[in-house]
Amino acid sequence: MSLALAPPPAPLAETKARVRTSRSRRWPRLWTEQSLLLERQHERIEALLEQLIDGHGVSSEHCCRLVRSLGLHLRLEERWLDQAGCLCPGHRVAHRQAAALAATIPAGASERLGWLMDLQQWFQHHRFGADAVAYARASLSDQP
Ligand SMILES: [Fe+2]
Repeated sequence: MSLALAPPPAPLAETKARVRTSRSRRWPRLWTEQSLLLERQHERIEALLEQLIDGHGVSSEHCCRLVRSLGLHLRLEERWLDQAGCLCPGHRVAHRQAAALAATIPAGASERLGWLMDLQQWFQHHRFGADAVAYARASLSDQP
């Protein structure tokens, strides 16, 4: 009979270094990389909105997932646009309004469909309006 022994635990300093490395790998530091991640989030949120609108009997669990994704996206975008010096107060206000709208998930299916369509309309208008302008400014400020 052989006994499989677990490897000894990594020293604390090594574990902390690994966590720091994985954290620094997770979030890009340059606007060119940040904007790619934000655009991928745009695509995913739009796809999720379409999926939820097309699907009947949308569960509140799916709506909560959408709200979480939207919240993360808005926070990241604000942080990175602010770092690039390209977040105007109106853009921040628009995000607050969208977050307030997203926070009120209706209980009824028909109201929920209207809520999803309102979010979709806001998201598309915002993406190709305020976001497009801010992203273009950030790209220009990122030039050497
Ligand atoms: Fe935005």
